[in-house]
Amino acid sequence: MDIQRKILCPSILNLAIDNIQEEVKKLDAADIDIYHVDLMDGTFVHNFGMSIRELEMIRRITDGGARKMIDCHMMVMNPHRYVEKVAEAGADIIYIHPESELVPSATLELIQMLGKKTGLILNPCTSLESVKDMLPITDYVMVMGVNPGFAGRDFMPYTREKFLELDQYRKKKNLNYHLLLDGGATRAVITDLYHNCNVEGYVLGKQELFFQKDDYAACVRRIRGF
Ligand code: DX5
Ligand code: ZN
Repeated sequence: MDIQRKILCPSILNLAIDNIQEEVKKLDAADIDIYHVDLMDGTFVHNFGMSIRELEMIRRITDGGARKMIDCHMMVMNPHRYVEKVAEAGADIIYIHPESELVPSATLELIQMLGKKTGLILNPCTSLESVKDMLPITDYVMVMGVNPGFAGRDFMPYTREKFLELDQYRKKKNLNYHLLLDGGATRAVITDLYHNCNVEGYVLGKQELFFQKDDYAACVRRIRGF
């Protein structure tokens, strides 16, 4: 099996917002890959997450440092309306939930037109079948291991099957999308999905990265070894 380098995506939702500048600088200095910014509208999910202003802030901070990539996870109804703003604010990858738009393929095309990477993010109950026609225009596919909207939930084991299907499908169709997990990324889950299901990317929350005894750099080194 061809093992790829892990794509590690700290979930900014977990940051103490009063220290955002310091925390992002520390994350910048650790070997992370992509900041994961959760946008919520209180309707698609029953919560409010980060805002476009916070995305801009992270863009500014990291551009003054390690210039990391930023993704935006849009837990929003009709994200098409906001994709341009999110791109302007500095997101490199824009993830939409297919069920949040009547014609999600048009939103993916808009993201491409804006020169950004396209992302599809699947809820635990969203099937491969329902999105497979869009996979040729998708750069990143994220599967939720938890119901969306809140951090710190337990990985739902039945979602494992979807990772296997998405990995097999990209091989069968010769597609190059990256495969990532959002939600419930514990050591055991990462170890299993990385070694057995070819999942290269992980959104990191409190389980392995935030509020740990060790600093970010040490946690990231540990996670790279899982
Ligand atoms: C959940 C968010 C996640 C969240 C993941 O809806 O999309 O980014 O931070 O939660 P954890 O990693 O804490 O399970
Ligand atoms: Zn997310």
